[in-house]
Amino acid sequence: MPGRIPQSFINDLIAKIDIVDVVGERVDLKKAGKNYNGLCPFHNEKTPSFTVSPDKQFFHCFGCQESGTAIGFVMLHDRLTFVEAIESLAASVGMSVPREAGSSRQEISANKKLIEAIAKAMDFYKQQLRISTAAKKYLQGRGITGELARDYQLGYAPSGWQTLENGLEGVGLEALVEAGLVSEGKNKKHYDRFRNRVVFPIRNVKGQTIGFGGRSIGDDDGPKYLNSPETELFKKGEELYGLYEARKSNSRLHKIIVVEGYMDVLSLAQSGLTNVVATLGTATNETHFYKLFKYTDEVVLCFDGDGAGRQAGWKALERALPALSDQKQIKLIFVPEGEDPDTLVRKKGAEHFNQQIKNAISGLDYLLEQLSIPLNLESLDDRAKFYGLCQPYIDKMKAGILRDLFKQKIDQIVGLREQTKQTPRPKRSFSEGPKVSRLEAKLCGYLLKYPDLWNQLDESFGENELLLINRCELLSAPVKQLQKHPTLGSEELLVRLIDEPAYDYFCDLLGKPVEIEIEEMEIEFREGLRRLTLKLKEQEELNSPDKLSEVASISDLKRFVSRKKNKINKL
Ligand code: UTP
Ligand code: MN
Repeated sequence: MPGRIPQSFINDLIAKIDIVDVVGERVDLKKAGKNYNGLCPFHNEKTPSFTVSPDKQFFHCFGCQESGTAIGFVMLHDRLTFVEAIESLAASVGMSVPREAGSSRQEISANKKLIEAIAKAMDFYKQQLRISTAAKKYLQGRGITGELARDYQLGYAPSGWQTLENGLEGVGLEALVEAGLVSEGKNKKHYDRFRNRVVFPIRNVKGQTIGFGGRSIGDDDGPKYLNSPETELFKKGEELYGLYEARKSNSRLHKIIVVEGYMDVLSLAQSGLTNVVATLGTATNETHFYKLFKYTDEVVLCFDGDGAGRQAGWKALERALPALSDQKQIKLIFVPEGEDPDTLVRKKGAEHFNQQIKNAISGLDYLLEQLSIPLNLESLDDRAKFYGLCQPYIDKMKAGILRDLFKQKIDQIVGLREQTKQTPRPKRSFSEGPKVSRLEAKLCGYLLKYPDLWNQLDESFGENELLLINRCELLSAPVKQLQKHPTLGSEELLVRLIDEPAYDYFCDLLGKPVEIEIEEMEIEFREGLRRLTLKLKEQEELNSPDKLSEVASISDLKRFVSRKKNKINKL
């Protein structure tokens, strides 16, 4: 039985799927105001009492009272278990479901045996390092001290064919074979996997050793690096060498640097950079990023400056996109051609390396830069092409501020490039002119603090009122945002208003303390909005043209028509 699905993955999945799509694939939905309605699939009905709320990402049936999230809907509708529903939804958006190790009792005891055998092997390798002059000399030659070797529990696998088996007492051969440390050849002969190699224990985040990497220190012993084969506990595509050690030596990981090799991790740690991890000879994938972002907000990919390194950086970037958000970011550095992090830090020192990390380029900027290199963005055709090239990357990102900003940037490159180059857009100034009443400022302050007030408005606030508010100098901008994104929190709302001329004023309003209870505020907000719209309506009537000959613009015409309508209503 596979292990538990990490909660972080479930959260990411929910963030990525839209309940309207999920239900819409299975039930005919019609838009009705903010929500979608349809015939309930869970009981027989002729008129729709089933509703889906995109804001709440929730469905509810007023007829049979079934309700829940997208996951709950798929469970009920497709008759799946929770795990199956997650798997089905993940597949629909191209995500693969990661699993935490261990769950069933049987599995736990099997895993325990495996872990014990690996731990014993590690002790054996460590002890062998102590007595092997050649191995110690090799590590010394690469700048690794005894202290670091201890921190990373480095060891040495001697040259013989059966040294491990013979050196370990009380560990069954079966467990060593299962761990992949001993291989079974033809005619049932056994031999050690790691021979004449420095071995690097690979530890999971709990600190258990689950596999090894081994570097040949002779010339004639097969590939330069060898890893343990995959087992139930050791999945190469999910583990990161050095993550356990990095967490152990840093109380908080402000950033984690990802490199390509074991020796890069060790060499950087030796120079005092202890927040470094390496993939295990596999490409950096989505699971790696989800894992890393559990422990840090910033991942810096540091790859070799050669073609392969750049390609690896690009691939990793593509795979990171679904895990990125305004909180979780990725940066890139490339070491100069012919070097790797190990040689670079040994030649130029930790200070130089730190500087490189400080100057790391944002992953998303790099992405746009690379996509635009073969294009001439002055030409209309290439700009269109650029737009098309960017689209799949946008689609990979989850909805949120980061994706919005990314899209904005693309729009800017495609559409406003010339303008921004020649004359930077002048910041419109906002003056607290006569048009902004104290009432409007107060309401705006409330709304910025508690955007949810917007969702509490009832039917008495309709289309006409909205039109009036949309013409307000202050309230229009936040209200427009909330119409598009009704679930924005205060902070998110403010971030989206950065380009507004009244931005500074919004900040002031947000900074002002509010002294009333939230319930009271709801009433004041509703009442205040009613008074404000009434006032605006009166003003409008005063200003609106009375005769068709006074109409000079479309908005005049609209006001003229509404004045006539009002007159008719009053009759
Ligand atoms: P590199 O070839 O870049 O090696 O492999 P390196 O880390 O710079 O090695 P040194 O400095 O010569 O010791 C990077 C990573 O690719 C995997 C290993 O995980 C290695 O750390 N690799 C490399 C293999 O799995 N097998 C190989 O034969 C070579
Ligand atoms: Mn190297």
